[in-house]
Parts: sequence; structure tokens; C-alpha cells
Amino acid sequence: MKITFNNFSCLQGDGVIVPILEDKLITPNDEINNMLAHLKDSEKFEGKKGEIFTFTRTCGEGKIQDIIVVGLGRDKELNNEIIRKSLGSACKKAIALKCKKVFIKIINSTVISEKDIIKSMVEGLGLAEYSFNRYKKDKKENSLDFTLGNTEKENQEDNKINEYIKEAKLLVEATIIARNLTNEPANILYPETLVERVGEIGRESGFEVEVFDEKQIKSLKMDAFLSVAKGSDNPPRLIVMRYNGNPQDSNILGLVGKGLTYDSGGYSIKPTDGMVTMKGDMGGAASVIGTMSAIAKSNLRINVVAVVAACENLISGRAYKPGDIIGSMAGKTIEVLNTDAEGRLTLVDAVNYIIEKENADEVIDIATLTGAAVVALGDKVTAVVSNNNEFYNELEEAAKVTGEKFWRLPYFDEYKEQIKSEIADLKNLGGKYGGAITAGAFVGEFVKDKPWLHLDIAGTAWADSASEYSIKGGTGVPVRTIYQLIKNRQK
Ligand code: BES
Ligand code: ZN
Ligand code: ZN
Repeated sequence: MKITFNNFSCLQGDGVIVPILEDKLITPNDEINNMLAHLKDSEKFEGKKGEIFTFTRTCGEGKIQDIIVVGLGRDKELNNEIIRKSLGSACKKAIALKCKKVFIKIINSTVISEKDIIKSMVEGLGLAEYSFNRYKKDKKENSLDFTLGNTEKENQEDNKINEYIKEAKLLVEATIIARNLTNEPANILYPETLVERVGEIGRESGFEVEVFDEKQIKSLKMDAFLSVAKGSDNPPRLIVMRYNGNPQDSNILGLVGKGLTYDSGGYSIKPTDGMVTMKGDMGGAASVIGTMSAIAKSNLRINVVAVVAACENLISGRAYKPGDIIGSMAGKTIEVLNTDAEGRLTLVDAVNYIIEKENADEVIDIATLTGAAVVALGDKVTAVVSNNNEFYNELEEAAKVTGEKFWRLPYFDEYKEQIKSEIADLKNLGGKYGGAITAGAFVGEFVKDKPWLHLDIAGTAWADSASEYSIKGGTGVPVRTIYQLIKNRQK
């Protein structure tokens, strides 16, 4: 995205976005404000949350500008997410009106800091501008040129504002990395090509990438991961990303992303409809890759390791079968009752690896893991299982800033009983009920009492339809929240 900060009095460009608070008096000291006063008087536009009104004006030498006014609701009720959504809708309007160079008036609020205002505005604009058109013959991606500015304040501190813009832009780009990876079809993005992409992203962003091939994965004894992978002709890859932003500190945060570049369900095959979006079963991997990029590019003072066990879950003469008993890197045996519950099998080897070999002190795993999470919470809220209240509180605090939504599920011992097998240490199915929790509990058996957050993004990683600042497809959730959680520790 192209975005700069520049206060200029005569509004240039071919479009102007003016976000308006419902209860804020308009200072009638410039031409657009006069027009807005008339709009309010004539009740054509009231500034209600999400309300949009567009008109054109001529300005100098017959130039025509589209003016997009967008409502924010009442100042007292304003929050970051309302700003993101309003600016997102306005951006989509500007695209529909074929605007190229758009001036956006900075919001003045009494309840939100300048930092949060600028960041939310940039996030809303940048995320709404995103499109995924690379496979169309007419490959046109949107490319708007945004200028943020203030029409009434003159002496704003440019440096600070530029810093806020820079950080938000970085988060937009990191989210788009995750969205693009999720949207790539499985014939293009499979473990080996995912490795190439991660290599490029690592080089550009400044994190280290190490890749283990099938032979090396075998010598690590990752039997659970390999059992899932073996039905495919595309070989698996274990991808390790490292960023050492605080060498004086020994603490290491571990991120694990589910990396099923395709999930057919295996012999417990999915119905046709359920298979269409399963190219996105690496949404967790995409989000940890995006997060690593944001962390490295902003030089955060933290040590992070991210691990992705990338493979495909397919059917063949070599595929694993319901009833199989398999091993795992941690040594626990697992009875496979359903080959479609494959995510947890790949995750537990990745989690064990990140703790044993990378010395992670705390673990966040992110996975499109269960339909049950979607049944429980819908597709706008990520389901969380955790063994640590402080860690969960950090997630909640971060989410307040980013607007991404999370809800914690219970994690009682009773759930842990549901995944014990009669003939092996564990089984990969927890019975009919509480599926999102028992899937989390399965992963929990491998975290060795480390502070742990399990994020089931089965509903939130993929959007079935467009909304204010996203399109149908990969959402990039929860890149911004994980970044924010780490950022909150920097103080
Ligand atoms: N990748 C799916 C989960 C999923 C479902 C993600 C819908 C996104 C949208 C996962 O591997 C899976 O198939 N889980 C099974 C588990 C069950 C067999 C215990 C499920 O949820 O049905
Ligand atoms: Zn599955
Ligand atoms: Zn899956």
C-alpha cells in the first residue's frame, strides 16, 4: 500500500475520504466542511456508524473530486475497530469510484489516542485495498495512493505520525502475506513451494529459515507428522524460522502453525463441499509466517522461533488408515480413529520439537483445527484453550487493540480423559462432544507444562464473504494480535 502523511490545504487528488463523528460539531472553515454542514441540515447524512454518502465537487480548472463521507457514530462509543471498518468501507467505495489518489482526513476523537486513530485508519484502508487477482487474465491489483492529513491542525508532530503509519503499514503487509499464502491453491502451494515462499519472506524481513526434508524428519522420529504426510506424492517439510531480537534475554517464544497445504480428510474422506476450502488448511502456518515478518521488520526486542510441519493429507496406497497405531517424536503412541483429525498429529510433533530442540519457554499454536470450533463460536471468534491465565490475559489485552476476537474454552481434566485410548497412549478423536476442546487437549498432552495458548482458527482464518476490510478468502487472522501481544511486552 502507498500511504503518506501530508497536511495540504487545497485538497488535491481525485478522491477525498472524510470520516465524521455523529456528535461532533463541524468547524465550517473550509469548503468541504460547509458541504457537510448542508448534508447534516438536510438529513442526507447523519454520521451514524457505517453510513456512507458520496458526492462530487469540482475544484480548480474543472477537476472533479469524489468526496466520500463515512460515519463513525458517537465519539464516546468510538473504538479502533469502528475506525477500521469505516475506513475499510470508504476505501472500497473509493475503489468502486475508480479513485487513484485519495486524501483522507485524520479523525479527531476525545476518547482514542492519536496513535490508535492513525494506526486503525491505516489498517482499515490497507486491508480493504487487498485483492487476490493474480490468476485472472486481467491481473489488476488495486493500487491507490493515500495521503493522510488534517485540514484544520497545522502543527502536528510529523515524526510521530509517520512512525504510526509505518507500523500499521507493516502490519497490513504482514496480514497480506498470510492472506496470500492462504488463498494460494494447493496445486501451486505445497510443502516444497511453501518452503520457497518462506525463504523469500525470511530474506526480505530479516529472519532465519531452516528446512528439514523427509529424511531429516524421519531421523527426528516425527512419526505422527510423517503418518499424515505419507499418503501424498508431495514430500513433507519441517520449516523452522528464527528471530533473535534480544540476545541478552534467554527467553524464547515458540509459535507453531498448522501447515496442511491440503486436507482431503484422507480415508476418513471429507464430503465434496467440505473439501473446497481445504487449500486454506495452512492458515495457521500462514499467520505465523506473517507474524514473523512483522516482528523481524519492526526489530522487536524478543526471541521467537516458529515451526511449521507442512504436508498434505491425501489418499493413496501408502496413506495412513483409521485404526492405525502410530508413534510420535515425544514417544507417546496414538491410535488413529479418524484420518481427518490430522492437524493435531502434525501439531504435536511440531510442539514437541519446538520445546525439545528449540528450547521454547512458552508456546502458541495456531491451527485451522476443528469444525467444532466454528459450531461453538461462529466464524468471527477464535477458540482458545490455555493452561495459563496470565498468558491468556495477554492475548485478551492484545485483542482489545486489534479488534480480532477470541474466546476461551474450559480445559478441565475430564476433557483430557476423553482422548485416552484403550490400546495406545492417546487417540486422535475425543468423541462426539466438545471437539474443539478435546482437539486442544490432545495438543496439550505435549506442551510439558509450558505456558501455552492454543488458537483454533478454523472459523476465523477464512471468510465465506467479504466484509468491511476483507474479501472472501484468507483473513490473515491472528497476525495483528500476536504481534500486539509481543509489542505489549516491550515496555
Ligand atoms: N481442517 C479441518 C478443520 C476445519 C474444518 C477447518 C472446517 C476449517 C473449516 C480438520 O483437519 C478436520 O477435518 N477436523 C475434523 C476433526 C474431527 C474428525 C474430529 C472436524 O472438525 O470435522
Ligand atoms: Zn482434517
Ligand atoms: Zn485439517
